[in-house]
Amino acid sequence: MTKKWIIAGIFLSCIVFAGCGKIFKEKNQTNSEEIMPDKYIVVGFSQLGAESDWRSANTESMKSTFTNENGFELIFEDGQQKQSNQIMAIRTFIQQEVDYIVLAPVIETGWDTVLQEAKDAGIPVIIVDRMVDVEDESLYTAWVGSDFALEGARAGEWINQFLQVKKIDNANIVNIQGTLGASAQIGRTKGLREACKANANTTLLTEVTGDFTQTKGKEVMESLLKKYDDINIVYCENDNEAFGVIEAIEATGKKVGSDIARGDIMVISFDGVKKEAMDYILKDKITCIVECNPLQGPLVQDIILQLEAGEIPDKFSYVDEGMYAHDDTVSSVVIDGVDYPITVVTQELLDVRAY
Ligand code: AHR
Repeated sequence: MTKKWIIAGIFLSCIVFAGCGKIFKEKNQTNSEEIMPDKYIVVGFSQLGAESDWRSANTESMKSTFTNENGFELIFEDGQQKQSNQIMAIRTFIQQEVDYIVLAPVIETGWDTVLQEAKDAGIPVIIVDRMVDVEDESLYTAWVGSDFALEGARAGEWINQFLQVKKIDNANIVNIQGTLGASAQIGRTKGLREACKANANTTLLTEVTGDFTQTKGKEVMESLLKKYDDINIVYCENDNEAFGVIEAIEATGKKVGSDIARGDIMVISFDGVKKEAMDYILKDKITCIVECNPLQGPLVQDIILQLEAGEIPDKFSYVDEGMYAHDDTVSSVVIDGVDYPITVVTQELLDVRAY
């Protein structure tokens, strides 16, 4: 390349960069009555992984909320199911001096030190989805997520009512748990244990973790089917595990469904995010799903905007969640005096449901 071309190249680059700078400035200095912010609010989001359809929907909710158009710059980090990765991400966010840290913690314990570091740096932390179990609750500003203990209680009560209506006195249940130590696992496991304790017609054969994934759900169900020949209910702590469990059951020639008296193995689960899961309810492959709502982005945005306005947001915000079933054997469940209706899944409902 001749000297002349090198100089021309440098000159051209200057023009291009100067142009970009101009576009950026115009965007941020628009006079349209402060519609555009002076600067973006920078949010560092440590997502725990990508283990399930629920998780993908939750990530999408955050990404579609924290956009430049909404006045945010999002730094997204996938923890790949490892707490150590999430701690590293939070430390990086602190170094980057983000305005807010949003954390979806993989498990509840082990966050005190890093959250203290964020607090010392003056960065508010908002916890989403699962809870953190910390000595000092001032280490986080707010939490948004599901009431997992209530989800478990609703599922357990549904099972007991179903067994009563169907007059089944020999329910042999296995629990495919979620990631051990995660709030979703703790609450859902508790719900089933308490329901079994309250009903002499049930036996909780065993509890094993399926890590909230389809692959692990299938793998553990395959070995459970070899170990026990009398399982008639499988309680899956999420839909992805249920998909794997159903594959494992059908591969043995057994039938999934709610006709336990005739030898079906009934599957119940949590989430109800993916169309496939709702289709499975229609077909009675999954008989009941307690919904877990992943759409938390807008609620986190509200909290940040309140903080920006100098207001104090609620410490805990719960998302709304329903319950879906194949038929109306159980029409509602009552927990602590509150009646939770159950929606029977029909093709019409699926046709209008947004996924
Ligand atoms: O913490 C929420 C749970 O995590 C969802 O039920 C599950 O699908 C996900 O992996």
